[in-house]
Amino acid sequence: ENSQLSSYLKSMIRSLPDHPIPGVTFRDITTLMDDPTGFARVIDGMAEPFLEQGITKVAAIEARGFMVGGALAYRLGTGFVPVRKKGKLPYKTVSMSYELEYGTDELEIHVDAAQAGDRILLVDDLIATGGTAVAAIQLFRSVGAEIIASSFIIDLVDLGGAEKVRAAGVDVYTLLQY
Ligand code: PRP
Ligand code: ADE
Repeated sequence: ENSQLSSYLKSMIRSLPDHPIPGVTFRDITTLMDDPTGFARVIDGMAEPFLEQGITKVAAIEARGFMVGGALAYRLGTGFVPVRKKGKLPYKTVSMSYELEYGTDELEIHVDAAQAGDRILLVDDLIATGGTAVAAIQLFRSVGAEIIASSFIIDLVDLGGAEKVRAAGVDVYTLLQY
């Protein structure tokens, strides 16, 4: 890890104590993404390990994952696949429910969004418990596609999400750890 780059990027992330509930420090990336140099460093840093890996598609998770997913797909010269919350995609979908802090939610992809032979890089802004990422991995496996790795700007290390994704058999790359 490049500690100078990390502290530069961290200096642009806004941390909000007790948001949205007491005890949670919210890591707000909007202040990083609206800086042209910060945005470029994030995309270049996330792309670097995958420039020569034969990635066929970048898949990103709604909504904050879309901020990095489109740019990363363009940088890697791949297609882009949206992973969306239930009910948003217009065509036939496959769905997977996952645990939130309170209750459950559901993610979907189009049935034809990926298939056997695809080498997919899964991306999001942040990994916390890993529940969202694991659900997305299961979705792509259900249509026969392979997730080569996952990449996040931020890892909330104490919540164990990276461990959970690795236990599901997918490598995890993160630029910044809290
Ligand atoms: C946030 C974040 C990740 C997820 C991480 O999204 O962007 O997708 O939570 O949490 P987990 O690792 O515990 O599953 P959120 O569901 O808040 O949706 P948003 O991107 O639409 O804000
Ligand atoms: N998603 C889950 N936990 C989060 C946090 N602490 N900051 C920003 N996004 C989050």
